[in-house]
Amino acid sequence: MQKKIIFASLLAFSTVSAFADNNIDVLKDETRAAAMPFMKALMEENKKAVQEGGPESAVKVCKDIAPKMASELSRQKGWKVTRVSMKVRNPMLGTTDEWEQKALKKMEERLAKGEKPETLEVAEVIKGKNGKTFRYMKGIVLQPGCVTCHGKSEEIPEAVKANLATEYPHDQATGYAPGQLRGGLSIQRKL
Ligand code: HEC
Repeated sequence: MQKKIIFASLLAFSTVSAFADNNIDVLKDETRAAAMPFMKALMEENKKAVQEGGPESAVKVCKDIAPKMASELSRQKGWKVTRVSMKVRNPMLGTTDEWEQKALKKMEERLAKGEKPETLEVAEVIKGKNGKTFRYMKGIVLQPGCVTCHGKSEEIPEAVKANLATEYPHDQATGYAPGQLRGGLSIQRKL
């Protein structure tokens, strides 16, 4: 009798741990599947805004669109979604916590070693006081079109500079070159 119980609980335990092992991959796939269209849509909105209104009006559009899209995805999924950076433009939404700092550093090292921007992601299940959280970050690498608003001083049009100065007086998100890690899309899911 006792043997049976031990056997049954062993079986249950091994099923649970096999599930836990797979789980991170499932979570990763699921999260990536939501992150990729988000990044693509944001990029398209950004491009459209620059084409339609010129970069200076696109600053205002970016200011509204990006946080709105991130909060929509958060609401839809019940996750916490935000874009973060070590040199942030919007300190309210983009300031990193410790996990995000480590993830960005790791991705910067991987990028320096020649990894392709598309594959830059970090995922981990964190056990905290209030249970487990799945943490995910997708790297965001600067593209040539981004220098209008994130590049070196001479690459940013005067009108954009003026807009950034009023909208983001504490802006640190300039001086980037294409190919550099600009930041990451950070997602937290309570498990
Ligand atoms: C028209 C100007 C403009 C262009 C072009 C632009 N950005 Fe931004 N970017 C902004 C603004 C404005 C914010 C702050 C948005 C906010 O308030 O959340 C921002 C914020 C960000 C953030 C969030 C972290 C932070 O610093 O607040 C990332 C990441 C980012 N941009 C990446 C990019 C990338 C990559 C590109 C090119 C594909 C790009 N941006 C092109 C204006 C621009």
